[in-house]
Amino acid sequence: MPKNWWRDAVIYQIYPRSFGDSNGDGIGDLQGVFDHLDHLAWLGIDTVWLNPVMASPNTDFGYDVADYCDINPEYGTLDDFDRLVKEADSRGIRVMNDLVPNHTSDQHPWFADSRSSKDAVHRDWYVWADPKPDGSPPNNWLSEFGGDAWTLDETTGQYYLHLFLPTQPDLNWWNDDVRNAFDDILRFWFDRGVAGFRVDVCHAIVKDKDLRDNPQATDEDPPTVRVFGQRRVYSANRPEVHDVLKQWRKVGRTFDPERLFLGETYVWDMQQLVAFYGARDNEIQLGFNIPFVHARFDPGLMSDIVGNVQKLFPRHAWPVWTGSNHDAKRLATRWCDGDERKVRLALMLLLTLRGTPVLYYGDEIGLRDVDLTQDELRDPVGIRFWPAYSGRDGGRTPMQWSAERGAGFTTSSDPWLPIGDADVTNVEAQRSDEGSVLHLTRDLIALRKEFVSATYSKRTSPDGTWVYRRGKHVIALNMSDEPQKISRIRGVIRISTTRERDGQSFAGGLSLDGWEGVVVEAS
Ligand code: NOJ
Repeated sequence: MPKNWWRDAVIYQIYPRSFGDSNGDGIGDLQGVFDHLDHLAWLGIDTVWLNPVMASPNTDFGYDVADYCDINPEYGTLDDFDRLVKEADSRGIRVMNDLVPNHTSDQHPWFADSRSSKDAVHRDWYVWADPKPDGSPPNNWLSEFGGDAWTLDETTGQYYLHLFLPTQPDLNWWNDDVRNAFDDILRFWFDRGVAGFRVDVCHAIVKDKDLRDNPQATDEDPPTVRVFGQRRVYSANRPEVHDVLKQWRKVGRTFDPERLFLGETYVWDMQQLVAFYGARDNEIQLGFNIPFVHARFDPGLMSDIVGNVQKLFPRHAWPVWTGSNHDAKRLATRWCDGDERKVRLALMLLLTLRGTPVLYYGDEIGLRDVDLTQDELRDPVGIRFWPAYSGRDGGRTPMQWSAERGAGFTTSSDPWLPIGDADVTNVEAQRSDEGSVLHLTRDLIALRKEFVSATYSKRTSPDGTWVYRRGKHVIALNMSDEPQKISRIRGVIRISTTRERDGQSFAGGLSLDGWEGVVVEAS
């Protein structure tokens, strides 16, 4: 693999359940991904990350793995997976898997054995602890999905830990057998040709060995570090996690030094994010920037985050920029309120910053979240917290390939989640319209190659705008309703978000309409 190939890459996240349904059961599958590889190649995508496709009872849709070395039969077989990797490769596309090391499914044979008795071979593979004298849980840790992070198991009278659902028991990463088992799982998939892994819950797999209580948060703590009123000091982000990541890089290196680890580094502090990159390129190569994903679509806030990254990232660390994923609302909804001008700006931003962009399926056509009724929810978190929070299904609805019934996603009349406004927003229509969001995405992906390794420097510009230089290119974004004038710039507009100004030369400053952005080749 070429050195640092992932710096040049545009990673495309596929939620396989919602991408393409080849057998008409209303659920996406591997063949459905296969069937759309040409779309990805046409778009200029060179890396895909598949949300978990391993065997799973789906209490958290794949994030509860029952067998790390097999494919969920709803999606296909290992042979299908191998074929997908091969066919993707023939189009210049690398495939990444999702690794879920924090927890397994409660249906995993390891957990079935673990819970069977205190002497079971796998007992210590999970985090078990005695109740307090009054019978309550061993400490005050809370589940990300609500309630205690502990469930009492009647068989042995001890509690087991689950930072997510009770059906997702946490593994005990202090146990060397667990570590060795995951080394083998990495090798299993590397042998099958995956380019790397997105690492689920990367920041929290190792817990405090003494299971100490998390401190209560105080009013001085920023809202982002208060999780259900606590600071997660002992249940996440422990220093020992770095040993695990170093070991995984070593395993990766035995195949190729460039096998990739992209961490779900769910931390709000930039120094903590930096730590995951290791002291010298010996941990993960890429880590998601969670504060950026969840920032308001505001040039001041966002450019501050980018500036902070510039300041704090060491030379070997490379940023990641993303606006949507399967846990958050889609960028077209969250950042852009469905306004297509903003969607175009958001894509221009993601694809021109210094770093690796990760697009979520549908971002390329400006797909929005779908409003769902209570009956339509499938996400356990939405089901639990409805109506206060409707969960994550709205951003996981099927890809909209065409205006036909089933949106070209399925022939079933009963897709697993409802389909959005496919008659308005779909790949087919946008493909035949050169002014579409889809063509803009494609053209930006191609243009990005011209300045992919150029430095980033922010220029002073009026409030509501964000202007930065990448090599000889200047990106000027007007993230406000008002027309704006950017001074001291001349050159040729390579791409404008409206497409109406592509190729236009200008001198003596640049005028931008509200929510307009341009990539300029400066002269
Ligand atoms: C983070 C994943 O992105 C999310 O979808 C999942 O529910 C949790 N981890 C638990 O695995």
